[in-house]
Amino acid sequence: MLADSFGRVATDLRVSLTDRCNLRCTYCMPPEGLDWLPAPDLLTDDEFVRLVDIGVTLLGIREIRFTGGEPLLRRGLAGIVERTARLEPRPEISLTTNGIGLTRKAAELRDAGLDRINVSLDTLRPEIFRKLARRDRLGDVLDGLRAAASAGLAPVKVNAVLMRDLNDDEAVPLLRFCVDHGYELRFIEQMPLDAQHGWRRDEMVTADEILATLRTSFDISPDTRRERGSAPAQTFLVDGGPARVGVIASVTRPFCGNCDRVRLTADGQVRNCLFARTESDLRGPMRAGASDAELAGLWRRAVAVKLPGHGINDPTFLQPDRPMSAIGG
Ligand code: 5AD
Ligand code: SF4
Repeated sequence: MLADSFGRVATDLRVSLTDRCNLRCTYCMPPEGLDWLPAPDLLTDDEFVRLVDIGVTLLGIREIRFTGGEPLLRRGLAGIVERTARLEPRPEISLTTNGIGLTRKAAELRDAGLDRINVSLDTLRPEIFRKLARRDRLGDVLDGLRAAASAGLAPVKVNAVLMRDLNDDEAVPLLRFCVDHGYELRFIEQMPLDAQHGWRRDEMVTADEILATLRTSFDISPDTRRERGSAPAQTFLVDGGPARVGVIASVTRPFCGNCDRVRLTADGQVRNCLFARTESDLRGPMRAGASDAELAGLWRRAVAVKLPGHGINDPTFLQPDRPMSAIGG
């Protein structure tokens, strides 16, 4: 098991398959992009599969989420999914993507064993998309969403981050759009993970503000049928259901006490928290010939020292050195 000293057990592994991306979302990357990780440092498909195998068979991991950067840019993605789906016990496999390219890949990924998908969509207005993601790709994202749904990756989840004075007036239209299309929308509070360190607490659009805005147009009631458990999203019924909306209040209502996640970066580092300031290298030992049991031991130690919380609300908070694009959501 991957247990820490506060009694939490990590069963949900997020694997960042690449730090590259074809968008430049302002809450994540600077306009010019970042220096990508050097190719020799990136794990190969076989190395990813070996570590995922160790997680599942030796360490109690039950869910695998592939992220990026943009994971659809990783050529071996479908193969990695397929090999992950053959592990015993078979983990749940999901993907967080910006949706670009899904029209070509959704069916292949479903056939490879992908169970669920989250697509990021922050705006329905092309000109705002251009400002927010700094690329003119809204149409591709919407096509990707449709492709995911028709490939049977339902219920497709949509992640939205609202930014002050940019898309903070889109909570209602986004929810209307998702309800109409059968997508399940979740709003995520903006977290201090952008490479440019531009996050300001007092500018952040809070979960309470989002819910208040939604209530001007919808009946939003607590979803008592769905256990929250370790899920970061609080879910609500929209107009009595069955449509739902989720709010992830990472900053204003931290859920660190129930966290069951652990992360693996594209260059083979274990991170025990999105906001961790230290990482544990598995790539070096793996390439130096470490056994599965030795790698499992290193991984256990990495999780054992997990801190109780992210500390965003402490005056001494320091943003992690790695930006979101190199950690994965
Ligand atoms: N704060 C909150 N969410 C973020 N994401 C990326 N950067 C941030 C941030 N700074 C979201 C993306 C994607 C998921 C991986 O995390 O929009 O949906
Ligand atoms: Fe790319 Fe996702 Fe970062 Fe946007 S948030 S730039 S889609 S990695």
